Amino acid sequence: MNVTHLECALCGLRHEAQRLHNLCRECGKPLLVRYDLERAKQSLTKESLLQRRSDLWRYREVLPVGDDANIVSFGEGWTPLLHASRLGEIVGIPELYIKDEGQNPTQSFKARGMATAVSMAKELGSTKLAVPSAGNAAGALAAYAARAGLESFIFMPRDTPRANIVECEQTGAHVTLMDGLITDCGAEVGRRKEAEGWFDVSTLKEPYRVEGKKTLGYEVAEQLSWELPDVIIYPTGGGTGLIGMWKAFDEMEQMGWIGSKRPRMVTVQAAGCAPIVQAFADGKRFADEFPNAATTASGLRVPKAIGDFLILDALRDSGGTAVAVTDDELIAATREIGATEGVFCAPEGAACLPALRKLIEAEQVRQSDRVVLFNTGSGVKYMESFS
Ligand SMILES: Cc1ncc(COP(=O)(O)O)c(C=O)c1O
Ligand SMILES: [Zn+2]
Repeated sequence: MNVTHLECALCGLRHEAQRLHNLCRECGKPLLVRYDLERAKQSLTKESLLQRRSDLWRYREVLPVGDDANIVSFGEGWTPLLHASRLGEIVGIPELYIKDEGQNPTQSFKARGMATAVSMAKELGSTKLAVPSAGNAAGALAAYAARAGLESFIFMPRDTPRANIVECEQTGAHVTLMDGLITDCGAEVGRRKEAEGWFDVSTLKEPYRVEGKKTLGYEVAEQLSWELPDVIIYPTGGGTGLIGMWKAFDEMEQMGWIGSKRPRMVTVQAAGCAPIVQAFADGKRFADEFPNAATTASGLRVPKAIGDFLILDALRDSGGTAVAVTDDELIAATREIGATEGVFCAPEGAACLPALRKLIEAEQVRQSDRVVLFNTGSGVKYMESFS
């Protein structure tokens, strides 16, 4: 195991590895896992990857689980990076790609984070896992917890897509539906967790989900023969995937796999819930809570993200930006991507297309750029959005 310690992403305070942690005990911000990368790279080499399993555990040396016996897996990750040549021709970007995360277990990229979080919870001895969720994280937690023989307690807004609710019930979770938003669900978990003995696996309130999500960054690099794209467009709620990829790029640079060049990281949000877009425009490092959050792209209905500063730092350090698109635009994009490329996107993933068009219009993306859109989930879970 190559984990050396956990480090607060804001104040830098060191926390011990192989202990259950939530937020920094000093400042209450997220913790990030740190590795002995010199040691990791002895066996984790680009050449060694040619022989490895085709899921995210191929990057074993930079994942946090100590004992292989604790790995809980359905074969998540190593999803296709599809060259979207037809769509690329329409928008005028020949090197356009879609990372199709709808092909993961439980049909979204949330499987990555829950694979590592549940494996670590199992390793560190927690038996009851609780989460507030917009839907897909809940479905993933329910499945991984069941597979690990652990209990899961899930809190979702009452108007979460029905598929997410049914899948949690059918995979053995304790499901509570709440009037309100994911932030209200998170507050409920926070109020009850101590008395109930729950371990809180909320986005970035535990340190291991981001470790699973960071494999998105390793995969994109590997799939593009270790040359990062020029632009990454990512539908952002809590931001774990974006924060994870940004961390992965640093780790890869430290291992000598890539240079210092980074993609321009672009956050996409729905106009009805765009706290990061607002904070980016205002030049702020921390985002205000977005009032009256509303969008059919349920995963983007996150009015306040605890990792806001990590998202905003990555956008600025990379020369990227943040873009809002309307629900009409992202729903129309679902059909357009589906009809041109055959990928039935989650509305969150589809939002990347109108965002790309706005960036082209503003001359922030050029024809020669290699661009990756993240389709973070499958459209099959969102029947209500299309009726
Ligand atoms: C399909 C989909 N896309 C994007 C997101 C946002 O992800 P993140 O919280 O990592 O920013 C979610 C979160 O629920 C989601 O379900
Ligand atoms: Zn701290």
